[in-house]
Amino acid sequence: MSKEIRFDYAKALPFFSEAELDSMEAQILCAKEVLLSKKGAGADFLGWIDLPVDYDKDEFARIKEAAAKIRKDSEVLIVIGIGGSYLGARCAIEYTHGAFYNQAEKPEIYFCGNSISAAYLSDLLDLVGERDFSVNIISKSGTTTEPGIAFRIFKEKLIAKYGEAEAVKRIYATTDKAKGALKNETDDKGYAAFVVPDDVGGRFSVLTAVGLLPIAVSGVDIDALMEGARAMRKKALDAPYKENDALLYAAIRNLLHRKGKAVEILVNYEPTMHHLSEWWKQLFGESEGKDGKGIYPASVDFTTDLHSMGQFIQDGSRILFETVLHVEESRRSLVIPKDEKDLDGLGYLAGQTVEFVNEQAMTGTVLAHTDGGAPNLMLHIPAQDAYSLGQIFYFFEFACGVSGYLLGVNPFDQPGVESYKKNMFALLGKPGYEELSEALRKRL
Ligand code: PA5
Repeated sequence: MSKEIRFDYAKALPFFSEAELDSMEAQILCAKEVLLSKKGAGADFLGWIDLPVDYDKDEFARIKEAAAKIRKDSEVLIVIGIGGSYLGARCAIEYTHGAFYNQAEKPEIYFCGNSISAAYLSDLLDLVGERDFSVNIISKSGTTTEPGIAFRIFKEKLIAKYGEAEAVKRIYATTDKAKGALKNETDDKGYAAFVVPDDVGGRFSVLTAVGLLPIAVSGVDIDALMEGARAMRKKALDAPYKENDALLYAAIRNLLHRKGKAVEILVNYEPTMHHLSEWWKQLFGESEGKDGKGIYPASVDFTTDLHSMGQFIQDGSRILFETVLHVEESRRSLVIPKDEKDLDGLGYLAGQTVEFVNEQAMTGTVLAHTDGGAPNLMLHIPAQDAYSLGQIFYFFEFACGVSGYLLGVNPFDQPGVESYKKNMFALLGKPGYEELSEALRKRL
């Protein structure tokens, strides 16, 4: 069986024609050219395009060494970061190891600094307890409030447990190579330092140390991850339009958008893909949602959410289309047992595998939603492993860059994220925000 993921739009053809798709070719190739020639807006942040072939090999080796050390001396790894600084790693660990990594493997890996919840942080401090632990603080800017607070708290715990000198050896800082608050502290204290390259934005950084260090700590094969990304990069760069999955996906989502589909729902049938959707939502949401434009990225976990959101998707406002992540070979297989009394009426499924039932649920849902007016795109994934995930990461990143230029936005900035921060700083009394603070308080 081929190891390559495949994009498939056959079930969406009732909603557009091949001729319409053909007519998108010139625009798509133009957007691709803007991306690759680095002539578009945000061109300073295109380092991710070549990452699968052009990455720092020495740092890659240091990531593996640091991961081995953490696996040896820590029962728990605390990964501190928000947005692009944690979603890729969280997704990869869940995607490859399954839902119960922390119950089944060592070291346990927990993510924090992605909210400002006292309860969450306190619970996590208790959970770590007296066990040996290390911290990977990830922040490109080094000044983001959420990870900054979490880092202070876990640094204090490290120092209390190990003393300053040993604590330093248990802090791994992934940040800018030359500047920023975290970089200054890292140099000052002597933490192990890993780099977020200047030309790679947070949501495109999963294949840098940002994602790779925590992923490697979990034991995932990061060489296979990069190999998958490399294979998809080759296809995205070289394949002609009608054989180029990333370009076709970018074209069709825009085609559907122009026909009034304002919402794209990423659908999975494996609970362990929940954070892949979270990563994807940030990628497309931050990249495209600006200047009053964009396709709203949403997600559901099926069949779970068929019992909550299924009604709306089948029958509500016809503003949405779905992109289905279809795993062809389940990570595990399980047979449904026989039950002599058959009180639940499921006897007709006895002897079948659970994954077969899941597959039929997916096929039935795709057809039902298509009949209900929700176009369904499919991404076929041969197996849930590091190689396919590398392909998926690159597939969506490349499609996102092309799609953003097609929409006419800068896909590589996120000016809107600053608005809440300014208000929060003003309300918290941060020096320099006095005027805004006064203006806001008048509105309360
Ligand atoms: O995509 C982005 O740039 C953001 O989501 C950032 O990753 C996020 O805000 C965290 O920023 P930083 O790594 O500077 O703490």
